[in-house]
Amino acid sequence: MPDEKVTIPALSEMKRAGRQIAMVTAYDYPTGAIADSAGADVVLVGDSVANVVLGYESTIPVTMDEMLHHTRAVRRAVKRALLVTDMPFMSYHVSAADAVKNAGRLIKEGGAEAVKIEGARCSTVRALCEAGISVMGHIGLTPQSLYQFGELKVQGSKADDAARLVEAAIALEAAGAFCIVVEVVPREIAAVVTKRLRIPVIGIGAGPECDGQVLVFHDLCGLNCPGVKKPKHVKEYASGFEVLHKAVKGYVEEVRSSAFPTDEHSFHLNRTEKQAFSSKFESGAKEE
Ligand code: KIV
Repeated sequence: MPDEKVTIPALSEMKRAGRQIAMVTAYDYPTGAIADSAGADVVLVGDSVANVVLGYESTIPVTMDEMLHHTRAVRRAVKRALLVTDMPFMSYHVSAADAVKNAGRLIKEGGAEAVKIEGARCSTVRALCEAGISVMGHIGLTPQSLYQFGELKVQGSKADDAARLVEAAIALEAAGAFCIVVEVVPREIAAVVTKRLRIPVIGIGAGPECDGQVLVFHDLCGLNCPGVKKPKHVKEYASGFEVLHKAVKGYVEEVRSSAFPTDEHSFHLNRTEKQAFSSKFESGAKEE
C-alpha cells in the first residue's frame, strides 16, 4: 500500500491502471483509524450511520448535524484515504442552493473532501461541481428511496430498468461526478457501467467487474446486533459482535467475582509517602 494521500485524480489513475479501489464506511474516530490504517483508499461516512450506529430503522431520519458530528470524528482519524461523506435525506432535494450550502458545511466544517448523493440528480451534481465540490454519485439500491421502493431489494432486474441504470450512470458522469457507487444490482449491469464510464465505479452487491468495492464497516466486521439480517452481498471478515460481547461479559464476571482488578492494575504510593501516609493514620491523626 503506497503511503501517499489518496486524491480524486489518484482514483482515476487507479481505474486507468486497473488497480482495484477499496472503500469502507466509518462513523467515528476508532472506525476511521482502523479503516485508514488498514489501507482503505476511500473512507465513506455513510448515512448508514443512521441504522448501523444510531439505531434508526432506516437512513431517512439522520440529520445534517448528525452527519457533521460523525464526519468530524472520522476526519480526525483519517490521514491517507480520501474522505467522502453522505449528504443526508432532504439536504440536497429541495434546491441546488440548499444542496450547495449543505455540502459546503460537510466540506468546510466536517472536513470531508467530497460528498455522495443518491439518484440521478444531474442538475444538483452540476451545481455542486460548479461550486467546487466534488461529487460521488450513487445509483441502484439507494436506501434514501426506501418508501418509493417499498423495500430494499435488487434493482434493475428487468432489462428496461437495467438500461435506465446505465443511462443514469452515463448522465452522472457527464454532469461531473468523479466516481459512482452502484449498489445491489445484477453484476451484468455493473459490468456494462464500469466499461462505459471513464470515472471509477465502486460496487456493493454489484459483482466483481467494478473498479472497486465498498462495504459497511459493521457488516464486514460482523459488528451488527443480533437479529440484523446479513445481506447476500456481505462477507464477514470477523465476528466482531461476538468478540466484543465476550470481552465485556468476561469483565462483568471478573468484577462480580473480584478477580478484577488485581495488583497488576493498581497504583502504589512510593515507600516514603507510604510511611508518611500510614503514620498519619497509625498516630490517630485526623484529616481536616
Ligand atoms: O451509507 C452507506 O453506507 C453507503 C454505502 C453502502 C455505499 O451509502
